[in-house]
Amino acid sequence: MSNYHIKQFEEYFQVYRKSVRNPEQFWEEIAEEHFTWKKRWSNVLSYDFKKAEFKWFEDAKLNITENCIDRHLHTRGDKTAILFQPNNPDEEAEHISYRHLHERVCKLANVLKDKGVKKGDVVCVYLPMIPELAISILACARIGAIHSVIFAGFSATAISSRINDCNAKMVITSDGSYRGSKTIDLKGIVDEALNDTPSIESVLVVNRINSDVYMKEGPDVWLQPLLDDAYAECTAEVMDAEDPLFILYTSGSTGKPKGMVHTIGGYMVYTAYTFKNVFQYRDNDVFWCTADIGWITGHSYIVYGPLANGATSVMFEGVPSYPDYGRFWDIVEKHKVTQFYTAPTAIRALAKQGSEFVEKYDLSSLKVLGSVGEPINEEAWHWYDENVGKKKSPIVDTWWQTETGGIMITPIPFSTPTKPTYATLPFIGVQPALMDENGQELKGNQVEGRLCIKFPWPAMARTIWGNHKRYQDTYFSAYDNMYFTGDGALRDEVGYYRITGRVDDVIIVSGHNLGTAPIEDAINEHPAVSESAIVGFPHDVKGNALYGYVTLKDVGESRDHGNLRMEINQLITDRIGPIAKLDKIQFTEALPKTRSGKIMRRILRKIAANETDQLGDTSTLLNPEVVQDIINNVK
Ligand code: WT7
Repeated sequence: MSNYHIKQFEEYFQVYRKSVRNPEQFWEEIAEEHFTWKKRWSNVLSYDFKKAEFKWFEDAKLNITENCIDRHLHTRGDKTAILFQPNNPDEEAEHISYRHLHERVCKLANVLKDKGVKKGDVVCVYLPMIPELAISILACARIGAIHSVIFAGFSATAISSRINDCNAKMVITSDGSYRGSKTIDLKGIVDEALNDTPSIESVLVVNRINSDVYMKEGPDVWLQPLLDDAYAECTAEVMDAEDPLFILYTSGSTGKPKGMVHTIGGYMVYTAYTFKNVFQYRDNDVFWCTADIGWITGHSYIVYGPLANGATSVMFEGVPSYPDYGRFWDIVEKHKVTQFYTAPTAIRALAKQGSEFVEKYDLSSLKVLGSVGEPINEEAWHWYDENVGKKKSPIVDTWWQTETGGIMITPIPFSTPTKPTYATLPFIGVQPALMDENGQELKGNQVEGRLCIKFPWPAMARTIWGNHKRYQDTYFSAYDNMYFTGDGALRDEVGYYRITGRVDDVIIVSGHNLGTAPIEDAINEHPAVSESAIVGFPHDVKGNALYGYVTLKDVGESRDHGNLRMEINQLITDRIGPIAKLDKIQFTEALPKTRSGKIMRRILRKIAANETDQLGDTSTLLNPEVVQDIINNVK
């Protein structure tokens, strides 16, 4: 029996049991039956939690683009692989067939080679949601270069620190981007970033908005003329299953962003297998994930997972509010989307507009709805279920992370009974554990603790680029022989999981993972600022918003606080990006600290959430008197 496509709840349990009883045998069968390898592995899995070393399909040879493109050419060459929906509703959608995708990827791969990019080199991709973004990462994979996509909302400083961290050789960008009614000068941001990035040798520029940008002679070149001259065949580089496929940066609770490294073989097998089952993708379906390819969701479920299954994947350039709040539903109707995968923050923003925008459109093509990025609250879940799914489409609340590469806890639609706010059950092969503060595993049901995974899975990140020690410390040192996720979770009376949120200093704002440390660093750069502490507080659309407590150097300073607030947010925008701006800033005389000098964020969190009756014990503070002062002056 093939276990590739699970169709019933009993089958889920059967296959799950098999996958945990003998993981090697299970994943070997999946890998063998559904993918093209140039050479078989010598060993399915070897691992060492202490050293944080994990190898899947060791010694196997393959190229992921042959699995995502070439092998479909005979059977579905004319099928749409990428369905590109531009920002402007009057601009025609573009259907890129598998054959055409093959040609475009090969051409760009040849351009990269011409420009001196070799196997193992890092290419930074800073592009809006246009086909060239997907084509760029596939072209890198074609020749064995490692892609490092930077979300096109990040600032110049964020770009240069990432480029310098991974020593990227090339940047692929565009003159600008369209976002709703705005255009954004991407090339200008890249120019600023490249003032301080010695490793960059060339910059390929896609013409998207026809703007007259500055092109630095030497490194900067327009891409289109090069593509016009490029050969449309490019032999796929033979890669090792454990060679890096990409680096993707994610925030940590301290320090600079972590360049998570994913490798080819395991990532391919796991994203393909999860895509097929979590979305129950059938051959003529049209799958739409609204994420940006700048995040892991887009890597795994716009590009690699869907294409490995020969699916049609929608890529949308715009925003949900342009030209009006009906845009998502307009696209669903127009392209007869069958699976729709979005984030709770988008659902809440749309729900706020009422149901009139949804009712205007025919959404009868929809079969499965998905949610990802943060816990989905009950209200948003029901709005999604009633207004979008018309109570007929199961909602898959999928929990996973940049680090996990693919979906980890999720219902299987039409099989697992769903329950609002619950991600329900572990996906095939995933072995979750809940741990208490003393490092003991909480057995049985109706328990709450820290979420860990106690056995390797194929798509787990293998390291942090250039810093394996940090990878080891962050994920494998909290508990022996386990991966620690950073999330808290509870298991209910039937064994369903509900993710309760981060237990570290990472705050999820509109589904974006933000570390407090880099934001505080940015604020502290302001000459008037002495110290700062960031916490999250509940926000009805963003899930969490940021609240900053800031102390100033000169207490008696007569500066205009309004200006100071603006300057602080400008600094954050410059150093990180607008997504990290603070909603509230409170200037305070001091921050509550422990006797060892640590800021007591727990108390600041309670104050920001307006839960001052639940402050707990403040007597151990070095300066308990500041607490009342902060409460009296809440923003
Ligand atoms: C963090 C990972 C997974 C791709 C997008 C985010 C939170 C993610 C859920 C969910 C509750 C969720 C967790 C996780 N998260 N999905 N369905 N329910 N929380 O990737 O940026 O690496 O963030 O997002 O806190 O640790 P990421």
